[in-house]
Amino acid sequence: MGIVNQDNITDVVIASLGKHGDITGRQREIMAALITHLHGFIKETRLQHHEFLAACDYLARAGKLCNDNRQEFILLGDILGAEVLVDMMTNPVAGGESESTVLGPFYRENPPVMPKGGSIILKHYDNEETVYYEGYVRDEAGRGVPGVTLDVWEDAPNGVYENLDPDQPEYNLRGRFETDENGHYAFVAVRPVPYPIPDDETAGELLRFMGHHPNRPGHVHFIVAKEGFRPLISQIFDADSAWLDDDSVFAVKESLIGKFRPARPEHGTDLHFEFDFVLKEAAGTQAIAAE
Ligand code: BEZ
Ligand code: FE
Repeated sequence: MGIVNQDNITDVVIASLGKHGDITGRQREIMAALITHLHGFIKETRLQHHEFLAACDYLARAGKLCNDNRQEFILLGDILGAEVLVDMMTNPVAGGESESTVLGPFYRENPPVMPKGGSIILKHYDNEETVYYEGYVRDEAGRGVPGVTLDVWEDAPNGVYENLDPDQPEYNLRGRFETDENGHYAFVAVRPVPYPIPDDETAGELLRFMGHHPNRPGHVHFIVAKEGFRPLISQIFDADSAWLDDDSVFAVKESLIGKFRPARPEHGTDLHFEFDFVLKEAAGTQAIAAE
């Protein structure tokens, strides 16, 4: 069956899978579904050849933009709601564990290791609001978990992440903290401001093609990890932020929204934010943030 027409092309291509080389069941499952949906998409939209070539050119341009500081394909996946859906498929919430959400493209490995309560503010801005963040990391039985690593990162009060901004010191607003013997963590940072994801180049083209905007509500990123628990990649969101109901990357979950409140004198900051995390036990899991 090698002669194709519009009716048999999908079956012909699927029949080629594994014909001249061993493939796993998972490879077969993924490729058969990809071919089925791709052909269905082409037929449904009656895709024209010049549009196919434009898509190839677009993907080539997106690939050329990728470097150590920019992963364009994560951005495109975020704009399409793909990363958040993959994350929900990968980390379904089955019990009382905290919800995960997208990693995004701005995580940097090996942030500075800081003592509990330390500040990750390395540059000050006129519009900044300092915040004492604290809370407990618990297991599903409600016990505080000691020795949990928390990698945190956020944008500066100018709405830009340190690694995209030559005017910020290296690792500004990034740090790695650990819970104490009671499972308690604390650190000082700033109130995150809403910001636009990079909307120049191909990410911006996609947003404009969709008629969507680039803005994200104010949020702080976390990777919460300890061996024996499922690593939690998540964000906490400012309940009073713009764009909370219309995130450009669809990453907001109700359970991840919290309220910034006035700080008490002992906090030494403008604001106070409390948020507890619950980790799911998972035997044999590596603590990814601590590698
Ligand atoms: C972020 O929150 O850092 C982010 C997430 C998805 C796309 C772009 C940025
Ligand atoms: Fe972010």
